Amino acid sequence: MPDSVEHAAYLTEQDDATADEFAELIDGLNQPLKTISPKYFYDERGSQLFERITELPEYYLTRTELSIMDRHIGEMASLIGPTASLIEFGSGSSQKIRILLAHLVDLAAYVPVDISREHLVASADALAADYPDIEVLPVAADFTQPFELPGPAVMPVRNIVYFPGSTIGNFSPEAALDLLEVMHHEAGTGGGLLIGIDLRKDRGTLERAYNDAGGVTAEFNLNVLTHLNRAFGADFDRRAFRHLAEYNDRDGRIEMYLVSEKDQTVSIGNAKVAIAAGERILTEHSHKYDLQDFGAMTARVGFRPVRHWTDADEMFAVCFFERD
Ligand code: TRP
Repeated sequence: MPDSVEHAAYLTEQDDATADEFAELIDGLNQPLKTISPKYFYDERGSQLFERITELPEYYLTRTELSIMDRHIGEMASLIGPTASLIEFGSGSSQKIRILLAHLVDLAAYVPVDISREHLVASADALAADYPDIEVLPVAADFTQPFELPGPAVMPVRNIVYFPGSTIGNFSPEAALDLLEVMHHEAGTGGGLLIGIDLRKDRGTLERAYNDAGGVTAEFNLNVLTHLNRAFGADFDRRAFRHLAEYNDRDGRIEMYLVSEKDQTVSIGNAKVAIAAGERILTEHSHKYDLQDFGAMTARVGFRPVRHWTDADEMFAVCFFERD
């Protein structure tokens, strides 16, 4: 890749960006629809802002999923059965994993899988301390690719993959299908999948959830630019952009953009990117599913629906699937 080589010298001065990341960023900004990877949301400030998002009145997702878990954990535990190995895609510092760890019977192991080693180790340590009877076996890996599972001391009866938060919605339908295939593989013979999905609903509710009145989500989106300025020595002016969350009804997804307030040229290292007034930079998609569509998708990789649980307003669903 000539581009990466060319910029490598410059990038050695930066704290956390690699030459490949630089090439990928510039490539995204040179597309007809400019794109910045959602991975730039989650620096320290971004992670704090996301925590605040989960507590916003408009952001119904986290609280609704938690209440579904709370209410139906008994039935979930009995369907999962004793001595399972619980494999979480993404690492669980959240209250949701704690509900499962507290209620599953004789868990053989809890296996959080995360690409961020730092986050993984911190949250695994905290959970191991709080649940001394559970063997916690963190795996540092990119869970979009098959990975090797650790061998717990106790032989698990079955593997249960857990993927909360409707994070599946942040993948394109094709990528989501690939991810479900990896989950099917990691679940193994007789395994299961417990997954949270945000359901399709009216535009107003969805757009408010991603554009709260207090501006926390706007701040979260704009923080990407601050992150890029720090990591790549870019000179984005945050005041020259605004946050936009728009529901695309045809594709069933919230689309998150940063919209340029004026014609401007941004420097990123030794690259320059021209951005027109009103031009959008895509930062994230959040797909919403209905239960039929999602069931059809999971069926394609070999999962069959066992049971699902929703709230009274059918905003969110937690679904349990099994495979042969
Ligand atoms: N998984 C979350 C979701 O799609 C992530 C999220 C919430 C998010 N609010 C956001 C991502 C705002 C980008 C911008 O609901």
